[in-house]
Amino acid sequence: MSIHSHISEITLSALTCEYAANPLSIDVPAPRLSWQLSSPQRGQCQTAYHLLVASEAALLEADSGDLWDTGKVETDQSVHIVYAGVPLASRQRCYWKVRVWDKDGVPGAWSETAWWEMGLLQPEDWRAAWIGAGWEVDPNSSTPCPFLRTGFSAGEDIVSARLYVSALGLYEVWLNGRRVGEDYFTPGWTDYQQRVQYQSYDVTDLLHTGDNALGVILADGWFSGYLLWENNRNVFGCPTRLLAQLEITYTDGRVETLASDDGWKTATGPLLSADIYHGETYDARQELAGWSEAGFDDAAWLPARIHAPTEATLNASASPRVRKIREIAPLGISQPVPGAFIFDLGQNMTGWARLNLPATTPAGTAITLRFAEVLNPDGTLYTTNLRSAKCTDQFISAGGAAQYEPRFTFHGFRYVEVSGFPGEPSLDTITGIVLHSDTPSTGSFTCSHPMLNQLQHNIEWGQRSNFLEVPTDCPQRDERLGWTGDAQVFIHTAAFNMHVAGFFTKWMADLCDAQSLSGAFPMVAPDVLGKKEGDGGAGWADAAIICPWTVYRCYGDTRLLDTYYPAMVRYLDYLGAVNQRTRHCFGDWLNHNDPTPADLIGHAFYAYDARLMAEIATALGKEADAAAYHDLFARLKAAFIAEYVTPHGRLVGDSQTAYVLALHFDLLPDALRPAAAGYLAQRIHERTDHLSTGFLGTPYLLAALAENGHLDLAYKLLLNEDFPSWGYPIKHGATTMWERWDGWRHDAGFQDPGMNSFNHYAYGAVGDWMYQNIAGLDLAPQQTGYQHSIIRPRPGGGVTGAGATLHSVYGQIAVAWQLADGQFTLDATVPPNTTATVYLPTTAVEAITEGKLPAMNAEGVTFIGAEEGSSVFTVVAGTYRFTMPSA
Ligand code: BGC
Repeated sequence: MSIHSHISEITLSALTCEYAANPLSIDVPAPRLSWQLSSPQRGQCQTAYHLLVASEAALLEADSGDLWDTGKVETDQSVHIVYAGVPLASRQRCYWKVRVWDKDGVPGAWSETAWWEMGLLQPEDWRAAWIGAGWEVDPNSSTPCPFLRTGFSAGEDIVSARLYVSALGLYEVWLNGRRVGEDYFTPGWTDYQQRVQYQSYDVTDLLHTGDNALGVILADGWFSGYLLWENNRNVFGCPTRLLAQLEITYTDGRVETLASDDGWKTATGPLLSADIYHGETYDARQELAGWSEAGFDDAAWLPARIHAPTEATLNASASPRVRKIREIAPLGISQPVPGAFIFDLGQNMTGWARLNLPATTPAGTAITLRFAEVLNPDGTLYTTNLRSAKCTDQFISAGGAAQYEPRFTFHGFRYVEVSGFPGEPSLDTITGIVLHSDTPSTGSFTCSHPMLNQLQHNIEWGQRSNFLEVPTDCPQRDERLGWTGDAQVFIHTAAFNMHVAGFFTKWMADLCDAQSLSGAFPMVAPDVLGKKEGDGGAGWADAAIICPWTVYRCYGDTRLLDTYYPAMVRYLDYLGAVNQRTRHCFGDWLNHNDPTPADLIGHAFYAYDARLMAEIATALGKEADAAAYHDLFARLKAAFIAEYVTPHGRLVGDSQTAYVLALHFDLLPDALRPAAAGYLAQRIHERTDHLSTGFLGTPYLLAALAENGHLDLAYKLLLNEDFPSWGYPIKHGATTMWERWDGWRHDAGFQDPGMNSFNHYAYGAVGDWMYQNIAGLDLAPQQTGYQHSIIRPRPGGGVTGAGATLHSVYGQIAVAWQLADGQFTLDATVPPNTTATVYLPTTAVEAITEGKLPAMNAEGVTFIGAEEGSSVFTVVAGTYRFTMPSA
């Protein structure tokens, strides 16, 4: 009898398939499975797993995996296990569970059962036809939204029902008078000419034996609504269309399919117009009571028109859907102009407002809602920065109490103006409804400095406001596009705050759909600028390398690299052929009077891409490619030095960003790094210790300083509150990140309204530095997914304590430190199956304790040595408290 006959204390949770818990409609042939371990014991880890996948829950309960039985696999891998069982068919439901062996080789209990379901994998699985309004739709303006419906009857003994649905445009589906699902802006935004997403819903509970009805509302959305500037419409096509297939399975195994066809009926209803930029008009007097229920009389409705099948591929949507995430109550109401009541939500946000009307509202009352991020000095809405976007919702009452929310538009706003209200509104007249892609929150950052906490808040709200289907530049004006540059500068910070792997997996497809034949990547994805042959330029197009590499680093995901490797190689080839002097470049966008030569930026990003490609090739096991990219990087670095660096370490252009890029991308001879960092510091001192960097330099500015001997200056810049700085907008009440350092100035008022968003996340790219350096939570180099993390607070700037948490793919990592009463205390949690290197700010290692013991003797703690004023330890999984006298 073995001493290990007991069961390990490890418990398993967070079973996911392709980053989702129990997902419907996976269309990846070999989905990836992940789990997390928890254990109260230090050093707990997985030494082996056994995974079972079964076609029936009962089989799995009997520990039988008819689809896949891995047997015992000796490995510590607990994330991204690639399914390698029986090939999976469309609609197949797969139940799975796993157990693991712990550090002592003791097996744990089986996990709970999880499942995933395959989507429609073959084009032939679709029997539905694309259908649309039964009338000629005017392509030149917003017209009433088509309502589509069909009645059908279902037999006895229904086991399950699935609705597979998509649209060209936006759809909202109703079944028997109830809305299906909680998703908005479906089927999502892609280049509809190439790829259209569909969603799957389990509608078993909405269906019943006997008469049923299915109803759908269509809206223009990104497909045919206003997009871009100058009243541009129909970027992808017109008119809107629906594809719907309802599959009902009965106990005897029979499947009945109800598919969209010309038997459906169509009419207009209360939605007189619906547009993403301009808003919605809803006339409640034209409501179609019971239209999505059985028995509704649709005799007067027109038959749906059939449209030719699209040539685009249909994909199950891979990213988190847009949902209503939270509600915000207004703080107050003002009335700068009689009859125009302005509600202040206290937070700049993206979504819409719910309007609450009293029972006394007369029929025909038209209430208008307008939205703005900021107010004019006279207290009225400042809307000039919205450019042509009308951002106006209108509700026309049918009389009596009502609650109204739009569904096919979104606004970026803090203030809501209500006019036409019958009488005096109260605070409960308006509620802010926040919508965004439902990327779960994963990180938190706090510290003893209130302004930095507000900065973290503003960064998170910038992310919330702009992760809506694609990473957008801004949520309010006639733009809201998937700007590639903005996305690449912010992605690492984004991956701290929220789980964005699925979100970027989908966007990477958008980006590659938009790659030109030459290999160039665009400015925006989906590529609505229609510049198929265009080049987004340095710092923008490079999103195609930087984003998947960041997802790989933060989540340990190599599939994205693998899938898009050929596209990335083509891009590098393109860079090899292009002339950086004549190539398009936005430059160091929105820098503060401190431009950087475009060709220097182009050259620097090309070299950086080559370095990342070497890492990517290594991750994919392509050693020869890795060597070639290393070599390319070395050559580009030498060429950069020859062209842009003087023998004393000054850089052509002499801008802050030139130094930042050269330092951060490793484009200087080692011996000149201190000199170049000194010049950077000098440039900053010349501006009385202020930054002047734009979109491309700002993300790495503090790292370039801190890693090259100027930590104090990094803190100084971060803590500045006068112009230009991160603190300046905060001092003036900002609740999100501004597009420009000078979006508003106390001495000059608003910037040029042509481009002045108060909700752009790019300058929020300082967030990763705060997590990594102030709190001290970082990824180890050459490691991915935080399987080995670095815990290294770098106190400075008078900050006396900071903390961060990150729910990594392995579980929760936590760091918190405090300087008090002459003591430095660091609390750290390292999740099971991972390890960490901990840097503590003293070289007097004997003075450091962990728990009640000298750190050197503590369980799971190993002293490695001293480095730059720190004592360095490695720790195994567990929760630790280190204390030491502060310097
Ligand atoms: C967008 C940006 C974008 C830029 C390109 C702007 O209109 O809002 O954030 O990166 O154009 O220069």
